[in-house]
Formats: sequence, structure tokens, C-alpha cells
Amino acid sequence: MFLADNWNDFEVLYASNSEKLERWGEVILRRPDPQVIWPDIDVVNKDSLPRPNAIYVRSSTGGGSWSKLSSFPNSWKINYELLNKKLTFKIFPTAFKHTGLFPEQAANWEFCASKIKDARDSGRKDVRILNLFAYTGGATVATASAGANEVVHVDASKGMIAEAKENVALSGLDESYIRFIAEDCRSFVEREIRRGRKYDGIIMDPPAYGRGPSGELWKLEEALYELAQRCTLLLSDNPLFFIISSYTAGVSTQASGAILRLTVGNKFGGKVVADELCLPIKNMGIFLPCGCTARWSND
Ligand SMILES: C[S@@+](CC[C@H](N)C(=O)[O-])C[C@H]1O[C@@H](n2cnc3c(N)ncnc32)[C@H](O)[C@@H]1O
Repeated sequence: MFLADNWNDFEVLYASNSEKLERWGEVILRRPDPQVIWPDIDVVNKDSLPRPNAIYVRSSTGGGSWSKLSSFPNSWKINYELLNKKLTFKIFPTAFKHTGLFPEQAANWEFCASKIKDARDSGRKDVRILNLFAYTGGATVATASAGANEVVHVDASKGMIAEAKENVALSGLDESYIRFIAEDCRSFVEREIRRGRKYDGIIMDPPAYGRGPSGELWKLEEALYELAQRCTLLLSDNPLFFIISSYTAGVSTQASGAILRLTVGNKFGGKVVADELCLPIKNMGIFLPCGCTARWSND
């Protein structure tokens, strides 16, 4: 498994009955998680668990809302230490039970950052990263802080681009070498191919289902292979990594791995490792599955 266990400002405190209790800095949130398929068990004294500040309650008509139990700010900041640098992210509970950050992705931030640092330390002058479906910019901030010369951040949502810009500023990173593109990932990739632009690292974390700014339909099962194949044409002659993450039930870890072997692997050789992304659950001695990741690397 790829375990994100370097967090100080975030932790999963407990999980049972399709719900998880999490600490985000000083704020405690409880929200649903379909992977939590076990009941309450006595490994943890529940009286010792902090009371949540808010609980995400699903409504019978789909969706849901946060029920506030005690006061806390609409948004707050948490930090993550990466290669001895402090990254800062804004946390803001959304109507879709999201919080503006996927903490399990820190396992991929660590991987990308070490690849970039090693390349730079071995004298590589230019490292350019493409982050697709980039949301609030977790991987953008991580790769920029690790020494990438240019990071291109693509997301269909102007709102998410604005949040990503805020995380870049909060992390004290200079926006000048980060390009923010509000566009459908496929049309952006096609334009970059026509322009002959090249990247040393590509990261994509597509949703199961989504829409581009002009309503372009994205369905992961149908479109992932083609997008990975087209992205292979954007890789430089000596690429560092290519990462595909997905939270799509029904698409197994090895399916993403197979796509990387059949596309990047066919062209550049290298190695593909595919596994589950996980977070440790404090005091329960178990791990919370948070989707899967396949990583191609040139070693
Ligand atoms: C699951 S989130 C990605 C999470 C992100 N990688 C992270 O770790 O922070 C999916 C993102 O894809 C974006 N999106 C959905 N369909 C898209 C499309 N066709 N083109 C570009 N972005 C899209 C959404 O706006 C959302 O921000």
C-alpha cells in the first residue's frame, strides 16, 4: 500500500459504520465513507474520542449537509512538511462532504517530490510537471516546492483554480512558474501535443464522472486509456514519473497499472507499481482505503 503517514495536522481518529472521525488541525469532522464496512468495535474507548465540531448528514434525496455541533471557522489552514518545507492548505467543508484536500494524496506528493529532488540534485536543469484534474493544487504545491521549474495546473473548475492559487500563496510559493488552466483536460492535452510541449512528470487524478467547462463529459472507464495514451506523447525524452489515481469503485488498482504499462511502459520501459492509497486509523491498528494509484517511474 501507499501509506500517507507523515501528517501532523491531520489524522483519522476512528472509523466504523460507514463513517470516519477526522482531526483537521484543531477541527474535528465526522463524515461518511463507503469503505468503512465494519461496525463499532471495542479497540478504542469511545469516551476518549473528541466530540466532532460538525457531522456530514446525508439527505434521503441524495447529497447532504454539515450539521454544526459547535463553532468553528468556515475555513482554516493546516500544514504539511515536505522535504523540510512547510506546505499550507486551506480546509473548507463543502456541500459534497469534501474538505478541499485529499490527505491520502500526500503519499504521492512524497513520491513526486523525491523524484524531482533527485533529478535536480543530479544536475537536471529543467523539470516540468503537468497536473491534470488538479483540484485545489495539492500536487501542484508539492511539486513546485520540491523544485520543479514549471508546473501546469489544469482543472475544469474556475472555483478550484482560485482555491489552488490560494494554497500556492499560503505555501509561500511564487506563482510565476505555475500555469493555471481552466479547461477540459483532454482538449488541453491535445493542444499541448500540437504545440510540441514536453513534461518530465505527469499526474492525473480524474473523477469517476465529470464535466469540462463546456460540458464535455468525462467517464473514467471509457476515457482513461485514451487520455493516458495521448499524455505519453507529452513526455520528455527522459521522463521521471507518470501517476494515475482514481477513486472509482469497479476500476481495480491493477487496471490503472495495466494502462500505464500499455502506454508509458511500452514507450519508455521503466517500472510500474500500482497499489491502494491508504491513511492510518489512529489506535485501531488498521488502514483506511482511499482509492488507488498506479505509478510509472524511470527506474
Ligand atoms: C477528485 S478531484 C481531483 C483531486 C486532486 N487530484 C487532488 O488530489 O487534490 C477531480 C477534479 O477534476 C475536475 N474535473 C472534472 N472533470 C474534468 C474535466 N473534464 N477536465 C478537467 N477537470 C475536470 C474537477 O473540477 C475536480 O477538481
